[in-house]
Amino acid sequence: MNPLKHMAIIMDGNGRWGLQHKNSRNLGHKEGLKTVEMVMKYCIKKKIKFLTLYAFSTENWKRPLKERNYLFNLLEIYLKEKLEKINNEKIRIKILGEKNFSKNLNNLLDFAEKKTKKNTKLQINLALNYGSKKEIVYAFNKLKKKKRINENDIKNNLFTKNMPDPEILIRTGNTQRLSNFLLWQAAYTEIFFEKKLWPDFKNIDLNRIIKKFSSIKRNFGKI
Ligand code: FPP
Repeated sequence: MNPLKHMAIIMDGNGRWGLQHKNSRNLGHKEGLKTVEMVMKYCIKKKIKFLTLYAFSTENWKRPLKERNYLFNLLEIYLKEKLEKINNEKIRIKILGEKNFSKNLNNLLDFAEKKTKKNTKLQINLALNYGSKKEIVYAFNKLKKKKRINENDIKNNLFTKNMPDPEILIRTGNTQRLSNFLLWQAAYTEIFFEKKLWPDFKNIDLNRIIKKFSSIKRNFGKI
Protein backbone atom coordinates (compact mmCIF):
# COMPACT_ATOMS: atom_id res chain seq x y z
CA MET A 1 0.00 0.00 0.00
CA ASN A 2 1.45 3.38 -0.99
CA PRO A 3 1.43 5.89 1.85
CA LEU A 4 -0.97 8.76 1.25
CA LYS A 5 -0.33 11.87 3.28
CA HIS A 6 -1.11 14.67 0.89
CA MET A 7 -3.79 15.05 -1.76
CA ALA A 8 -3.93 18.12 -4.01
CA ILE A 9 -6.89 19.13 -6.15
CA ILE A 10 -7.56 21.48 -9.07
CA MET A 11 -11.29 21.97 -8.61
CA ASP A 12 -12.18 22.71 -12.21
CA GLY A 13 -15.61 22.88 -13.83
CA ASN A 14 -17.70 24.99 -11.45
CA GLY A 15 -18.45 27.59 -14.09
CA ARG A 16 -19.62 25.04 -16.66
CA TRP A 17 -21.70 23.19 -14.06
CA GLY A 18 -23.37 26.43 -13.00
CA LEU A 19 -24.22 27.40 -16.57
CA GLN A 20 -25.59 23.94 -17.35
CA HIS A 21 -27.73 23.60 -14.23
CA LYS A 22 -28.55 27.09 -12.95
CA ASN A 23 -27.73 29.41 -15.82
CA SER A 24 -25.10 31.08 -13.61
CA ARG A 25 -21.34 30.44 -13.31
CA ASN A 26 -21.40 31.77 -9.76
CA LEU A 27 -23.99 29.24 -8.59
CA GLY A 28 -21.57 26.60 -9.85
CA HIS A 29 -18.98 27.92 -7.38
CA LYS A 30 -21.56 27.74 -4.60
CA GLU A 31 -22.29 24.13 -5.52
CA GLY A 32 -18.54 23.40 -5.67
CA LEU A 33 -18.25 24.32 -2.02
CA LYS A 34 -20.39 21.25 -1.17
CA THR A 35 -17.79 19.05 -2.87
CA VAL A 36 -15.05 20.80 -0.84
CA GLU A 37 -16.86 19.80 2.36
CA MET A 38 -17.30 16.22 1.13
CA VAL A 39 -13.57 15.92 0.37
CA MET A 40 -12.63 17.37 3.77
CA LYS A 41 -14.73 14.72 5.51
CA TYR A 42 -13.25 12.05 3.26
CA CYS A 43 -9.69 13.04 4.18
CA ILE A 44 -10.46 12.89 7.88
CA LYS A 45 -12.05 9.46 7.48
CA LYS A 46 -9.10 8.13 5.50
CA LYS A 47 -6.52 9.84 7.75
CA ILE A 48 -5.05 11.88 4.89
CA LYS A 49 -3.18 14.65 6.69
CA PHE A 50 -2.84 17.35 4.02
CA LEU A 51 -5.40 18.53 1.50
CA THR A 52 -4.37 21.29 -0.91
CA LEU A 53 -7.16 23.01 -2.83
CA TYR A 54 -6.58 25.35 -5.76
CA ALA A 55 -9.23 27.93 -4.95
CA PHE A 56 -7.95 31.05 -6.79
CA SER A 57 -4.91 31.34 -9.03
CA THR A 58 -2.75 34.37 -9.82
CA GLU A 59 -4.29 34.12 -13.31
CA ASN A 60 -7.88 34.14 -11.99
CA TRP A 61 -7.59 37.92 -11.46
CA LYS A 62 -8.37 38.12 -15.21
CA ARG A 63 -11.95 37.00 -14.47
CA PRO A 64 -14.73 39.61 -14.34
CA LEU A 65 -14.91 41.57 -11.07
CA LYS A 66 -18.39 40.21 -10.40
CA GLU A 67 -17.16 36.59 -10.41
CA ARG A 68 -14.06 37.43 -8.35
CA ASN A 69 -16.15 39.21 -5.76
CA TYR A 70 -18.61 36.33 -5.63
CA LEU A 71 -15.77 33.87 -4.94
CA PHE A 72 -14.18 36.04 -2.23
CA ASN A 73 -17.57 36.61 -0.64
CA LEU A 74 -18.32 32.88 -0.69
CA LEU A 75 -15.04 32.20 1.09
CA GLU A 76 -15.65 34.96 3.63
CA ILE A 77 -19.16 33.75 4.47
CA TYR A 78 -17.95 30.15 4.64
CA LEU A 79 -15.15 30.95 7.06
CA LYS A 80 -17.32 33.17 9.24
CA GLU A 81 -19.96 30.44 9.48
CA LYS A 82 -17.73 27.40 9.78
CA LEU A 83 -14.43 28.40 11.41
CA GLU A 84 -15.58 27.41 14.88
CA LYS A 85 -16.66 23.98 13.63
CA ILE A 86 -13.45 23.56 11.63
CA ASN A 87 -11.41 24.37 14.71
CA ASN A 88 -13.44 21.99 16.89
CA GLU A 89 -12.75 19.24 14.38
CA LYS A 90 -9.02 19.92 14.81
CA ILE A 91 -8.55 21.04 11.22
CA ARG A 92 -5.75 23.48 10.44
CA ILE A 93 -6.19 26.13 7.75
CA LYS A 94 -3.16 27.39 5.90
CA ILE A 95 -3.11 29.82 2.99
CA LEU A 96 -0.72 29.20 0.10
CA GLY A 97 -0.21 32.49 -1.73
CA GLU A 98 0.10 36.16 -0.94
CA LYS A 99 -2.91 37.63 0.83
CA ASN A 100 -3.78 40.65 -1.25
CA PHE A 101 -7.55 40.70 -0.98
CA SER A 102 -9.79 43.17 0.84
CA LYS A 103 -8.65 44.17 4.33
CA ASN A 104 -11.58 42.20 5.77
CA LEU A 105 -10.74 39.01 3.93
CA ASN A 106 -7.00 39.32 4.60
CA ASN A 107 -7.69 39.72 8.32
CA LEU A 108 -10.12 36.82 8.34
CA LEU A 109 -7.58 34.56 6.60
CA ASP A 110 -4.88 35.59 9.10
CA PHE A 111 -7.31 34.93 11.94
CA ALA A 112 -8.26 31.49 10.57
CA GLU A 113 -4.60 30.52 10.25
CA LYS A 114 -3.76 31.70 13.75
CA LYS A 115 -6.81 30.16 15.40
CA THR A 116 -6.24 26.72 13.86
CA LYS A 117 -2.42 26.72 14.00
CA LYS A 118 -2.12 23.95 16.58
CA ASN A 119 -4.60 21.55 14.96
CA THR A 120 -3.17 18.34 13.60
CA LYS A 121 -6.04 16.16 12.40
CA LEU A 122 -6.10 17.55 8.86
CA GLN A 123 -4.32 20.52 7.30
CA ILE A 124 -6.22 22.27 4.54
CA ASN A 125 -4.01 24.36 2.33
CA LEU A 126 -6.10 26.89 0.48
CA ALA A 127 -4.17 28.01 -2.57
CA LEU A 128 -5.41 31.58 -2.95
CA ASN A 129 -3.80 34.10 -5.26
CA TYR A 130 -1.44 31.19 -5.81
CA GLY A 131 0.84 30.65 -8.79
CA SER A 132 3.61 28.12 -8.78
CA LYS A 133 6.00 30.23 -10.86
CA LYS A 134 5.51 33.21 -8.50
CA GLU A 135 6.09 30.90 -5.53
CA ILE A 136 9.41 29.70 -6.97
CA VAL A 137 10.55 33.25 -7.82
CA TYR A 138 9.60 34.30 -4.29
CA ALA A 139 11.76 31.48 -2.90
CA PHE A 140 14.72 32.50 -5.07
CA ASN A 141 14.44 36.10 -3.92
CA LYS A 142 14.58 34.98 -0.30
CA LEU A 143 17.78 33.08 -1.13
CA LYS A 144 19.49 35.96 -2.96
CA LYS A 145 22.34 36.24 -0.49
CA LYS A 146 23.32 32.55 -0.76
CA LYS A 147 26.22 31.67 -3.03
CA ARG A 148 25.03 28.17 -3.93
CA ILE A 149 21.40 27.15 -3.77
CA ASN A 150 20.41 23.49 -3.40
CA GLU A 151 17.06 21.68 -3.71
CA ASN A 152 16.41 21.78 0.02
CA ASP A 153 16.90 25.57 0.08
CA ILE A 154 14.18 25.97 -2.51
CA LYS A 155 11.87 23.40 -0.89
CA ASN A 156 12.22 25.18 2.46
CA ASN A 157 11.28 28.54 1.02
CA LEU A 158 8.13 27.53 -0.80
CA PHE A 159 4.68 28.13 0.74
CA THR A 160 4.60 24.36 1.32
CA LYS A 161 7.69 24.25 3.54
CA ASN A 162 7.50 21.51 6.19
CA MET A 163 4.86 19.60 4.24
CA PRO A 164 5.25 16.36 2.32
CA ASP A 165 4.87 16.64 -1.44
CA PRO A 166 1.46 15.48 -2.69
CA GLU A 167 1.31 11.82 -3.66
CA ILE A 168 -1.92 12.42 -5.59
CA LEU A 169 -3.04 15.38 -7.68
CA ILE A 170 -6.57 15.36 -9.06
CA ARG A 171 -7.92 17.72 -11.71
CA THR A 172 -11.62 17.56 -12.46
CA GLY A 173 -13.35 19.23 -15.40
CA ASN A 174 -11.96 17.22 -18.32
CA THR A 175 -8.83 19.33 -18.90
CA GLN A 176 -5.34 17.87 -18.81
CA ARG A 177 -2.95 20.54 -17.61
CA LEU A 178 -1.43 21.77 -14.35
CA SER A 179 -2.28 25.47 -14.75
CA ASN A 180 0.66 26.75 -12.68
CA PHE A 181 -0.20 24.57 -9.66
CA LEU A 182 2.50 22.97 -7.46
CA LEU A 183 4.99 22.63 -10.34
CA TRP A 184 7.93 21.98 -8.00
CA GLN A 185 6.03 19.84 -5.50
CA ALA A 186 4.38 17.62 -8.13
CA ALA A 187 7.64 16.37 -9.63
CA TYR A 188 6.78 12.77 -8.59
CA THR A 189 3.06 13.06 -7.99
CA GLU A 190 0.56 10.63 -9.50
CA ILE A 191 -1.84 12.76 -11.55
CA PHE A 192 -5.49 11.90 -12.14
CA PHE A 193 -7.47 13.83 -14.75
CA GLU A 194 -11.19 13.41 -14.21
CA LYS A 195 -13.90 14.08 -16.77
CA LYS A 196 -16.49 15.07 -14.16
CA LEU A 197 -17.06 18.73 -13.30
CA TRP A 198 -16.10 19.60 -9.70
CA PRO A 199 -19.68 19.82 -8.30
CA ASP A 200 -20.38 16.33 -9.72
CA PHE A 201 -17.27 14.80 -8.16
CA LYS A 202 -18.20 12.33 -5.39
CA ASN A 203 -16.91 9.91 -2.78
CA ILE A 204 -16.99 6.99 -5.20
CA ASP A 205 -14.67 8.89 -7.54
CA LEU A 206 -12.19 9.38 -4.70
CA ASN A 207 -12.45 5.69 -3.79
CA ARG A 208 -11.70 4.70 -7.39
CA ILE A 209 -8.72 7.08 -7.60
CA ILE A 210 -7.25 5.88 -4.32
CA LYS A 211 -7.70 2.24 -5.33
CA LYS A 212 -5.83 2.93 -8.57
CA PHE A 213 -3.16 4.89 -6.67
CA SER A 214 -2.62 1.95 -4.28
CA SER A 215 -1.92 -0.35 -7.21
CA ILE A 216 0.75 1.88 -8.78
CA LYS A 217 4.37 0.84 -8.38
CA ARG A 218 6.00 4.10 -7.35
CA ASN A 219 9.63 3.77 -8.39
CA PHE A 220 10.98 7.31 -8.03
CA GLY A 221 13.54 6.58 -10.74
CA LYS A 222 14.54 3.17 -9.39
CA ILE A 223 13.55 -0.08 -11.07
C1 FPP B 1 -12.45 26.49 -11.27
O1 FPP B 1 -13.61 26.23 -12.03
C2 FPP B 1 -12.80 26.85 -9.91
C3 FPP B 1 -12.39 28.00 -9.28
C4 FPP B 1 -11.52 29.01 -9.92
C5 FPP B 1 -12.83 28.31 -7.91
C6 FPP B 1 -12.89 27.17 -6.96
C7 FPP B 1 -13.80 27.54 -5.86
C8 FPP B 1 -14.63 26.70 -5.18
C9 FPP B 1 -14.65 25.24 -5.36
C10 FPP B 1 -15.60 27.21 -4.18
C11 FPP B 1 -15.03 28.05 -3.13
C12 FPP B 1 -13.98 27.39 -2.35
C13 FPP B 1 -13.71 27.67 -1.08
C14 FPP B 1 -12.56 27.00 -0.47
C15 FPP B 1 -14.52 28.58 -0.27
P1 FPP B 1 -13.96 27.18 -13.25
O2 FPP B 1 -14.74 28.33 -12.76
O3 FPP B 1 -12.68 27.52 -13.98
O4 FPP B 1 -14.84 26.24 -14.14
P2 FPP B 1 -14.97 26.26 -15.72
O5 FPP B 1 -13.70 25.63 -16.27
O6 FPP B 1 -16.17 25.40 -15.96
O7 FPP B 1 -15.14 27.67 -16.16
